[in-house]
Amino acid sequence: MFIDSVTNIIQEFAFFMISISNVVGALEPSATLAMSAKAKELKAAGKTVYDLSVGEPDFVTPSHICDAAVAAMKAGHTKYTLASGIPELKAAVVEKYKSDYGLDYAANQVVVANGAKHALHNAFFSTLNAGDEVIIPAPYWVSYAELVKLSGAVPVIVQTDEADGFKMTAKQFRDAVTPKTKMLLLCSPSNPTGVMYSRDELKAIADVVIERDLFVVADEIYDKLVYPGNTFTSFPTLDQKLPERTIVVNGVSKTYAMTGWRIGWTLAPAPISKKMGELQSQETSNPCSISQYAAVAALRGDQKCVDEMLTEFTNRKEFVSQRIPKIKGLSCPAIGGAFYAFFNIKQHLGRTLCGTKIDNSEQFCLELLSKKCVATVMGSSFGCEGFVRASFAADMKMLTTAFDLIEEFVG
Ligand SMILES: Cc1ncc(COP(=O)(O)O)c(C=O)c1O
Repeated sequence: MFIDSVTNIIQEFAFFMISISNVVGALEPSATLAMSAKAKELKAAGKTVYDLSVGEPDFVTPSHICDAAVAAMKAGHTKYTLASGIPELKAAVVEKYKSDYGLDYAANQVVVANGAKHALHNAFFSTLNAGDEVIIPAPYWVSYAELVKLSGAVPVIVQTDEADGFKMTAKQFRDAVTPKTKMLLLCSPSNPTGVMYSRDELKAIADVVIERDLFVVADEIYDKLVYPGNTFTSFPTLDQKLPERTIVVNGVSKTYAMTGWRIGWTLAPAPISKKMGELQSQETSNPCSISQYAAVAALRGDQKCVDEMLTEFTNRKEFVSQRIPKIKGLSCPAIGGAFYAFFNIKQHLGRTLCGTKIDNSEQFCLELLSKKCVATVMGSSFGCEGFVRASFAADMKMLTTAFDLIEEFVG
């Protein structure tokens, strides 16, 4: 008792000695990771949890990629590398963008980072100044707005409509541009909606980018998770003026089930890449040397593993797309890529579900987790109230039970 009080006094005192910075104090923690942490707590307490909260493929990393990591360790690739990444991986990224999308990048335009999230941080931190505005269509991935704010810039959110398939139109984009606008942040296929822009829709947006002299960060992390009937367009292919005003972000996390390896990258004009590499040299040094060699094997190796995972994701996407509208009051836009369903729960707001009045998506998700042990993420954390995101990076058995439980919850 006495020891506890003394510890509290010491901690309070320490709080006055070391205070949190304004920037980090204002930071919102990642909602997806927070929900997933809650799900893990319940699991640790012995409950069976149906976890649809996290955007992480449930497959193991293909064995030839793991073998390449072991070989790299045995060959002694366990030291610092160039801060911006090993030449082999830069070359493999260049080859990928040439063979997949016909784009001509040079190795000095690639910076390998500690995951795509870190690549985004490098991009914002290296190009934005205090007060610059970055246009982000909502619903948006949880980290975008926070990363933009960390760099001192201002996220300008453009609300899109479910009726328009959650896609920002060129007109909405143009209307949001001000003299302070510097950048557009675009993600297609989208996390959290799974929605994909068509080439024409992207071209209309690209025209505004050029007309208004803006830059683009194109998050292409889901470029290989595209379902039949949809075609992925890499943003810089839309106009020859775009490579010089676009920073492409991508990585191995989603395509090759390599979330824990932490390898992402940017493709950008050489002077920006040089600065991003220098930033990284001060902040983190190189990304893990072993993971970089594994990523080379992922990009250059047999792509059959990607096809196999996509086939499984396609089955799940079919299941989820058919199951959601069968649940009373739920609807969901067409899923073109990625592995998320973003479903509308508005008909259930204001109702009492399992004994609790539900007024917003956060209450919906928290109650669904506590009463039915199904973990999802509230739309509000993606800038879109009245919706819930369910990841279908979970096996069919889990998905089937989880959606049965969601049906019970709203019923
Ligand atoms: C749209 C989007 N961009 C970037 C990332 C970050 O990927 P990484 O795990 O490589 O940092 C994610 C991960 O969820 C994502 O969904």
